[in-house]
Amino acid sequence: MSESEQAGGQLLVTKDCAAALELMQAELSKALNELAQESSGRNLQAGPERIQHFPSRLDLAFWYVRPTIKRIFHWLFQSEERSNFTYSITDENKDYLAAFCAVITGQASHKMRDYIDELCRDSELREHVLRQRSVLAQQHIPIDPHFDFGRRLGWYTLVRALKPKIVIETGVAQGLGSLVLTSALMRNAQEGHPGYYFGTELDRNAGFLFSGKYAEFGKIFYGDSIESLKKLDAVIDLFINDSDHSAQYEQQEYEVISSKLSKRAVVLADNAHVTSKLCDFARSTGREFLYFQERPKDHWYPGAGIGAAFTKL
Ligand SMILES: C[S@@+](CC[C@H](N)C(=O)[O-])C[C@H]1O[C@@H](n2cnc3c(N)ncnc32)[C@H](O)[C@@H]1O
Repeated sequence: MSESEQAGGQLLVTKDCAAALELMQAELSKALNELAQESSGRNLQAGPERIQHFPSRLDLAFWYVRPTIKRIFHWLFQSEERSNFTYSITDENKDYLAAFCAVITGQASHKMRDYIDELCRDSELREHVLRQRSVLAQQHIPIDPHFDFGRRLGWYTLVRALKPKIVIETGVAQGLGSLVLTSALMRNAQEGHPGYYFGTELDRNAGFLFSGKYAEFGKIFYGDSIESLKKLDAVIDLFINDSDHSAQYEQQEYEVISSKLSKRAVVLADNAHVTSKLCDFARSTGREFLYFQERPKDHWYPGAGIGAAFTKL
């Protein structure tokens, strides 16, 4: 709104910047007040020996925390998103994701990395999302113009590598995952390996991005995911759990699909950084389990994880 100025050696920030800083200060104070309340009556004592090292040890710990605080500040100005963030992941993390997919598919890591790069270069898909952004803004679920796919790159890679006939994603939201998955199915079909996508979603207004030629490769069932999965009459090759993230619901989804999985089906959990339900499912059904930790690039969000239950080739 107004300009930054440097006057008489004093740094004057814009009004908007000052407002953001003030709000951040309030959040930090809130956290410290909560801490003080939690600590009261707990008789925490450290003794002079330990207290003398508090400043240097705090400095060390805050070396890790400060960059996140700065990213939160910049995100306030650079992004409009309120949920389901669309950050990119670091280049190193893409390599780790390729290695993760290589173990699951039994294929070469460099081939998996090629699939990741294939999606990153897909300008048609990006343009499709940008064209739909105005609709999403009207729905109050904005997506940033510099959006990216995050760990969905792994979903894309597994579809490209495994050539599944049936792919399920529970929880569609705006439909970015639907697009990523159907764009992989579209390329597979062009190479002679057709496949189909089913999404399940509770919110009837969700799935706005899933349109045009992408929608020819799949369909969304609106309603409760468990009910839709019960009705599904298909053999599932790739299943992605990303709907209700309570542990109990996640487990129920695995129980419902268990008998519908193909012999070499891969089951992914988008919630594996929160619950161990997929790991339990893998153990109880004699499958392998592997975990990938996402590392967002230039974003405060610490990243989610992909859990994978699969049968070794
Ligand atoms: C994390 S978002 C999904 C993100 C999406 N997979 C993507 O790639 O962007 C979770 C979605 O699950 C939906 N959901 C929550 N509970 C559900 C349920 N019981 N059945 C179906 N969908 C549900 C929510 O409405 C929300 O849109």
